[in-house]
Amino acid sequence: MRRDDDLAIEVQRMREWGLARFTGMSVAVTGGISGIGRATAIRLFAEGARVWIIDRNPPAATDPAFDAMSYIGLDVTDAESVHSTITHIATESGAVDVVVNAAGIAHSARVQDTRANDWSRLIDVNLTGTFNVTAAAMRAMKGRGGAIVNIASDAGLVGQLAQAAYCASKGGVVQLTRAAALDGAPDAIRVNCVCPCFVETPLVDAWIAEQPDPSAARAAVQSDQPIGRMGRPQEVAAAVAYLASAEANFVTGVALAVDGGTTAR
Ligand SMILES: NC(=O)c1ccc[n+]([C@@H]2O[C@H](COP(=O)([O-])OP(=O)(O)OC[C@H]3O[C@@H](n4cnc5c(N)ncnc54)[C@H](O)[C@@H]3O)[C@@H](O)[C@H]2O)c1
Repeated sequence: MRRDDDLAIEVQRMREWGLARFTGMSVAVTGGISGIGRATAIRLFAEGARVWIIDRNPPAATDPAFDAMSYIGLDVTDAESVHSTITHIATESGAVDVVVNAAGIAHSARVQDTRANDWSRLIDVNLTGTFNVTAAAMRAMKGRGGAIVNIASDAGLVGQLAQAAYCASKGGVVQLTRAAALDGAPDAIRVNCVCPCFVETPLVDAWIAEQPDPSAARAAVQSDQPIGRMGRPQEVAAAVAYLASAEANFVTGVALAVDGGTTAR
């Protein structure tokens, strides 16, 4: 599939399936420029949403998927800017119905080799960034309700070798999700997270490229998944769409593994 076709293909697919669960809704996706966030933005757009992309990087001029969406350049670690951005989206669209936290970064090192600045960076972006956006979204959704879906990781559910800061940040996202679900329930705000394992995205490509033998690393990752391959961003986006939709109206505080069986072992 050509990259510049995937929005049109998804729109067509949703039309054929009769899925339009976000018609008339306003949706914000952090990290929406790339990988899982991009696939999620496309899926929610294809199901009828007005989509706002929040990302520290701008869309590539060659990626027409974003022509139909609004882009706001923002670093999710900047709490004040996050607050004003979510308020701006609520004012412009009349509401913020769904927020997806997909902005995130990775870092590989054992606990004893993790430098203080790498630890702080991972926690700042993955955990504090998710907190900043979740808190701002919950303030904007008060009185009207809404759904928040965080992209955690299988690394938030189980320990992984040489992933100290990443595991800690994603474990924090899982627990933040549960706490926020309880705090949001009286206001009809549902908060859930998905926990993917390896998914074919630029983040994983970069990690594989850093390994001493990248093709052996890719083969090892594939064969380590019970399903025998990595996940696709669209497969994570489908789970996010379910959790964000009214079909999941009685589901809050869950960490849904989307991992080809990885954490079932
Ligand atoms: N790809 C995987 O295998 C995998 C598995 C489990 C969880 N995840 C999680 O899914 C999320 C998305 O990962 P991906 O693989 O799609 O990565 P990606 O690198 O393709 O996309 C991440 C996006 O987040 C943006 N971003 C990063 N830091 C930001 C910041 N401070 N402020 C605003 N935007 C920022 C980037 O610009 C990028 O567009 C991450 O939280 C990641 O930890 C990924």
